[in-house]
Amino acid sequence: MFITFEGIDGCGKSTQLGLIADLIEAKGFKVHRLREPGGTSLSEDIRNILLSNKSKINDLAELLLFEAARANLVEEIIRPAIERNEFVLCDRFFDSTTAYQGFGRQLSFDIIQELNLIATNGLKPDLTFYLKISLETANIRSHNRIHDRIEKSGREFFERVLSGFDFIAENDSKRFIIIDAEHSIIETNKKIVDKIPILNV
Ligand SMILES: Nc1ncnc2c1ncn2[C@@H]1O[C@H](COP(=O)(O)OP(=O)(O)OP(=O)(O)O)[C@@H](O)[C@H]1O
Ligand SMILES: [Mg+2]
Repeated sequence: MFITFEGIDGCGKSTQLGLIADLIEAKGFKVHRLREPGGTSLSEDIRNILLSNKSKINDLAELLLFEAARANLVEEIIRPAIERNEFVLCDRFFDSTTAYQGFGRQLSFDIIQELNLIATNGLKPDLTFYLKISLETANIRSHNRIHDRIEKSGREFFERVLSGFDFIAENDSKRFIIIDAEHSIIETNKKIVDKIPILNV
């Protein structure tokens, strides 16, 4: 089973992925804990390029770097793991590209859908948890952190990103599950656990 976690920075993706991975492992299953961009040697190198403030990266180059990292992760790790019937949990996946590069950077929606399809070779998550929080909550939670290149994009950019996630929720509501993530870590976790069949038997 392939599960992804989406949402803006500070919404709790890494926290919830870790908790859910622990619970699935406790049931005796093999779990892969992955993040995008990243998860392979090449994809982690691309992550460093994308998040550092060293190089000026134009919007199209940014999109293509994300997709290159994704193509490598899908073929090297995700698809083989799914074929072995293992669990794959990934912190961000192609919905982040739709929301950030599509709505945030305002690149062509059609080009993004096409590149998402090419990079994944058609692979889709079985379930996606969109941890929904306001920008105010995000700012509070990431208050003490150093912001990476993309996090420095400004309020209007992040408002567009949020509208992008809402758009995906409206158009792919079976796979893409909205989780109200404004409340405590435990409350949010319960809402996610409820939606994962293997954790409810
Ligand atoms: N429900 C919650 N209530 C309060 N604080 C939370 C909650 N969930 C996570 N946090 C805290 O908020 C911060 C951000 O959480 P986390 O790193 O899991 O978010 P993230 O979505 O992975 O962010 P990023 O995209 O920046 O990696 C952490 O300090 C975490 O402990
Ligand atoms: Mg994180």
